[in-house]
Amino acid sequence: MSKLYLLTLLPLSTLLLLLTFFTFNSHPTILNNSINPPKKLHIYKHFQIAQSTCEGTLYPELCVSTVASFPELRRKTLPEIISATVNVTMKEVRASASNCSGLRRKLIKKLHPLDLHALDDCIELFSETIAELKRVLADLSGSKSPEKYYDDLQTLLSGAMTNQFTCLDGFAYSKNNTRKFIEGRLRRITRHFSNSLAIVTKLKKRKPSTTTSF
Ligand SMILES: *[C@@H]1O[C@H](CO)[C@@H](O)[C@H](O)[C@H]1NC(C)=O
Ligand SMILES: *[C@@H]1O[C@H](CO)[C@@H](O)[C@H](O)[C@H]1NC(C)=O
Ligand SMILES: *[C@@H]1O[C@H](CO)[C@@H](O)[C@H](O)[C@H]1NC(C)=O
Ligand SMILES: *[C@@H]1O[C@H](CO)[C@@H](O)[C@H](O)[C@H]1NC(C)=O
Repeated sequence: MSKLYLLTLLPLSTLLLLLTFFTFNSHPTILNNSINPPKKLHIYKHFQIAQSTCEGTLYPELCVSTVASFPELRRKTLPEIISATVNVTMKEVRASASNCSGLRRKLIKKLHPLDLHALDDCIELFSETIAELKRVLADLSGSKSPEKYYDDLQTLLSGAMTNQFTCLDGFAYSKNNTRKFIEGRLRRITRHFSNSLAIVTKLKKRKPSTTTSF
């Protein structure tokens, strides 16, 4: 009897463990949704907008997780979604810049001049990137029809994206392999730019009457 009892008990305890694990890890709003069906629909819609916005991007996973993190997605226009994405990217560029500065400060006496030089270049490129992103945000918020700024947006975002590659290229003759400390963050930033560029192309495809199509 005890053997059989144990056999049934074991999967049950595993199940319970999984259940508690899931419960504790679920977002509070998801718990609320089971009581409140309209909100569940709301979340579904939210995710759907994120997915349709990210359709055709090269890094859809990063795109959806970024876009889905914005509140009130249903009330946001496409230019506003692009702005918010650029805003997030700008924060990551700032974090990279301070990471590079910190690295430089910490290792200034230990790094080979070529590595120091590469870090300096990166820090400068980051501040250039931030200036470009500020112009992107101004373009998107300043006009009633950001479609007019389409070409400017493409140029600025492509330029900002290229800066990250230029930064990494600077480590071609590196002696200390400093590149490894920053390339992870830069890869993510580059992917954000690629995604933003893909979403920007939708500004042109969109017809004024289909603004609320999603
Ligand atoms: C969940 O529902 C309760 C009661 O309706 C509410 O007070 C609480 O703010 C809700 N929590 C979230 C995260 O929506
Ligand atoms: C960008 O983020 C800041 C907070 O970090 C926020 O105050 C601002 O409204 C955001 N701008 C856009 C366009 O999302
Ligand atoms: C920079 O990032 C690397 C890798 O993520 C980390 O190990 C390091 O501590 C960071 N340095 C600073 C100064 O933020
Ligand atoms: C960087 O490389 C130089 C030259 O190879 C070496 O002398 C120095 O110790 C290295 N510094 C660090 C922090 O590894």
